[in-house]
Amino acid sequence: VIVLRDSTLREGLDVPGLRFSLAEQLRLARNLAALGIREIEIGAPGRARQAQELHRRIKAMGLPLRTSGLVFGFGDYAAELRHAREFDRADILMPLGPRGPRTKRDKLHALTKALDEARVLGLRGPGAGLPHASRHEPGYLLEFARAARQHGATRLILYDTDGSSRPDRISALVKALKGVLPIHFHGHDDLSLAVANSLAAAQAGASFIDCTLNGLGDRAGNCPLEPLAVNLHLRAIPHGLKLRRLKAVSDLVAGWTGLRSGLFPVTGELVWQHVTRTHRGQPRLFEAFPPELVGARRKVPKRPGDLRARSAAASFEKAVRTRRSIRHFTRQRPPRSLLRRLIQDAWHAPSSMDGRPWHFVVIEDRGQLRRLADIKSLRQPAEKSGYPCGFLAEAPCAIVICVDERLSWGREVENAALAAASIMLCAHASGLGTTYLSAGRPGAPALEREVRKALGLPARIKPCVILPLGYPLETPGPKAAGSWRSRVHADAW
Ligand SMILES: Cc1cc2nc3c(=O)[nH]c(=O)nc-3n(C[C@H](O)[C@H](O)[C@H](O)COP(=O)(O)O)c2cc1C
Repeated sequence: VIVLRDSTLREGLDVPGLRFSLAEQLRLARNLAALGIREIEIGAPGRARQAQELHRRIKAMGLPLRTSGLVFGFGDYAAELRHAREFDRADILMPLGPRGPRTKRDKLHALTKALDEARVLGLRGPGAGLPHASRHEPGYLLEFARAARQHGATRLILYDTDGSSRPDRISALVKALKGVLPIHFHGHDDLSLAVANSLAAAQAGASFIDCTLNGLGDRAGNCPLEPLAVNLHLRAIPHGLKLRRLKAVSDLVAGWTGLRSGLFPVTGELVWQHVTRTHRGQPRLFEAFPPELVGARRKVPKRPGDLRARSAAASFEKAVRTRRSIRHFTRQRPPRSLLRRLIQDAWHAPSSMDGRPWHFVVIEDRGQLRRLADIKSLRQPAEKSGYPCGFLAEAPCAIVICVDERLSWGREVENAALAAASIMLCAHASGLGTTYLSAGRPGAPALEREVRKALGLPARIKPCVILPLGYPLETPGPKAAGSWRSRVHADAW
């Protein structure tokens, strides 16, 4: 059985700006285990210590997953090696490009020395990883393979680091080297050949293949697990996966990242839809394999609708329907560029006679946040005792929306509330959380007066809404749909 090692939590996290919370990482690990994945890569060079916590949690959950990590075999790697001892396996990397020791001799020497140290430290089943291996001839790589075996390596990882190789070449390399050590292939998708190269490696006798869900990875990504697994299945190469779970796991990650094309093979949203007349009559004739194999469902819609309108509306609707008030935040301060963007978003809100009467006071000073929290708490009406406002003092920042009364024509609160709605939705869509807090209300002038004083506002500027902002430390579920239907009235009440 070929071992598919999932690297979504290592290479996948190289997608610029992509983060998964620890809870999400554990949920993913659980899903990968249920899919039948038996090894996951979690530790990157320089990140072995951070990955230890994930390793421990995976073990505490009793998941049948081997964890593995990577350590560079040159430079100051002693501490990294010690941290990597905890993983079920760790691979020592020796880049065969310009990085690391310069000459071949130096590289060979450094690799064998690091493998010796790994053995002394008790690293389990160390592999020797050769980034840029696919640029080299089999003879050159054989020397590394033999030296690695002599020094205790249990597998050889061949990296097509820049995704520039071809299936015939990968096949030749695997055939030349597999007699020395079990081969592990790691491909990138820069030229859309990662699946073809990985399949060639498998057919040539590789024992391990790296892949990521939905092909996540830096640049054009890594070898996508979904089409690779189906290709192995269709060629009767045993892979050990429960393919009917593929769609659900792929969907889970696509939902978090938004990074899967509708046309993505095997699990994309459009892959199982048949719309043209000839296809609708005999959909199976146009399918490489039945959708049930991967847990997908065939769709033969009467009308496909307008794709462009649908996808734009769907992402907006998702933000609208998943927004909730957030009252617990991490300490991390949102970048100023993001706050500026939110204010620009508000600037596009509707306002009475397009007066755009808004002013935005951005508060990051802790004393100022506490002052506002104290004012809100003191002036909170009795009926709102269930909504304490102390959390405002714990937020990393806040935006107070004020309006210029001369540009508002008596519609101060409406104008401010519409700007607030834009900020709240855009903040949520950007991963931030907030809660609407009124800065004043009719019949209670003290609240407005005190906020005005704390912010030093001129007489004509009215404070209306306080929006604490930060990264959520809570994830309230979506709200129940409720009985909105009974509130809809046709033409009159
Ligand atoms: C006009 C207005 C005033 C609000 N005042 C407060 C408040 O004083 N304290 C608070 O914690 N939340 C306040 N909220 C937030 C609401 O409690 C919250 O929107 C509501 O419970 C629905 O929850 P959701 O935002 O998660 O959908 C206010 C919301 C609005 C629209």
